[in-house]
Amino acid sequence: MKVVVAGTGYVGLITGVVLAYIGNKVTCVDVDDKKIDLLKKGISPIYEQDLDKYLQLAKDNITFTTDNSCYKDSDITIIGVGTPERPDGSANLDYVYEVCNDIIKYATKDLVVVIKSTVPIGTNDEIEEYFANKRKDIKITVASNPEFLSQGTAIHDTLYASRIIVGALDEKTFATMRKLYAPLTKEPYNVPYLEMNRRSAEMVKYASNDFLALKISYINEIANLCSKVGASIDDVTKGMSYDKRIGSLFLKAGIGYGGSCFPKDTKALHWLSKINDCELTLVKDCIEINKKQKLILFNKLKEDFNNCLKGLKVTILGLSFKPMTDDLREAPSLVNIDMLLDYNASITVYDKIALEKVKEIYKDKLNYALTIDDAIKDSDAVLIMTEWEEIKNYDPINYKKYMAKPNVYDGRNCHDPKIMKEKGINYYSIGR
Ligand code: UDX
Repeated sequence: MKVVVAGTGYVGLITGVVLAYIGNKVTCVDVDDKKIDLLKKGISPIYEQDLDKYLQLAKDNITFTTDNSCYKDSDITIIGVGTPERPDGSANLDYVYEVCNDIIKYATKDLVVVIKSTVPIGTNDEIEEYFANKRKDIKITVASNPEFLSQGTAIHDTLYASRIIVGALDEKTFATMRKLYAPLTKEPYNVPYLEMNRRSAEMVKYASNDFLALKISYINEIANLCSKVGASIDDVTKGMSYDKRIGSLFLKAGIGYGGSCFPKDTKALHWLSKINDCELTLVKDCIEINKKQKLILFNKLKEDFNNCLKGLKVTILGLSFKPMTDDLREAPSLVNIDMLLDYNASITVYDKIALEKVKEIYKDKLNYALTIDDAIKDSDAVLIMTEWEEIKNYDPINYKKYMAKPNVYDGRNCHDPKIMKEKGINYYSIGR
C-alpha cells in the first residue's frame, strides 16, 4: 500500500520506518528541512535505540520529503504530528489541521486518514466532517489509531506492540486498516488487534496514559509516607507486586514523571472532563502530586542547608526525563535547575546524551562536565535526576573521594542506602 506519514517526530518517524520495514511504500513528510535532509542521508534526527538500524533495513521502501504534493496518490495518510498543550491544558490541534488542509489541497482519490496524534475525544469525528465539507468529490474517511510506544524502546514497542487499536465507523476503513497491519498480527509479532468506534479508540489512549501516571503518583505518595513512618518503598513495592492484580510495572518511586506524554495527556484529559462537567479529580490530584514530587530533592537540599544555597556547589547527574533518550520535555532536572539558579547555587550538570541540549537552553549559566568524576569534583551536593545505567553503576566510593562534602540526593533510587551509609555518604533517596 502507498502510505504517507505526516510528521517525523517520535510517533511519525517510528511508524513510517516500521511500516516500510514490513513492506509498505512509505513517504514521510515534514515541514522541517533540516530533519528531512538528515533522513535523506540515512541519519536519524532523534536519539532512539535501533532507529538507525531499521532506517537502513527499510531504506528501499521509504522516502523523505518536504513536498506536500506527496499526498496526491496515497491510499493511507497517517498523521503523527504534535498536539502540544495550550495554557489551559487543552490539546493544540493546529498542526493536525495544517496537515488536513494539505490533504484537502492535494488528494486526488478516496483515501483513509489515520490519526495517530493524541487528540481529544471527538476530534476524529470532527476531522472527517471537515474533509466531507471541503472535498465533496472524493471520500476521505478517518480512523483513530493511537500510539503506545515508549521512547528508548520505540521500534520494539511498535513491531511487538502491546495492542493495535483501530477506531472507525465503516467497514471499508476497517478493511484498509486490517490490510495495513496484517503483517504485525501474524508470527513473529502476534500483536493483538482491536476494533472499536473512534471515540473509544481516542479514549483508550488517554485512559491508558493517565492510568500509568496515576500509578506513578500513587507510589510516589506511598514512598513519601514510607520515609516518614520508617518503611522502605523497595520492600513495599516488592511485597505489592506479588499480587497479579497490581503487578510490578510503573511502581518505581522517584521524582515524578516527565516526557512528552504523561504531563500533556493528564492535563488534556482533566481539561476535557471539566468541560464535560464530569471532572476527573483523581487526574487533577495526580497532576498536582507530580508537580510537587519533581521538587522533592530541591526542597530537602534547601532544608538541609537552612535555605541558603548561594554559592553552594551542586551537581546534577542525569538530565533527560528518563534513561535511553536525550529528550528533555518536562524533565524534572529542568525545574530543579531553574530553582537552583533562583537561589544562586553554582551548578554543574552531567548527562552522557542530553548535555548538548541542556547547553542550548542554559548556555553559560551552568558548568558542563564530560564525566561523572569531573562533574562531582569539589561539589557540596549531588542530585541524581535520571537513572542511566552509568549512574546506577557508579562506584559510591567516588562520591567520598571527589566531593567536597559527600551529600548525595538520589531522586531515582540508584544506590543501595546500606552501602552508601557504610561508605560514609550522607544519602537521601525516595521512600527509603
Ligand atoms: C509513555 C507511555 O509509557 C507510552 O505508552 C506512551 O505512548 C507515551 O508515554 P514515555 O513517555 O516514553 O512513554 O516514557 P515512560 O517510560 O512511560 O516514562 C514516563 C515517565 O514516568 C518518565 O519520566 C519515567 O521516569 C517515569 N516513571 C515511569 C516513573 O517515575 N516510575 C515508573 O515506575 C515508570
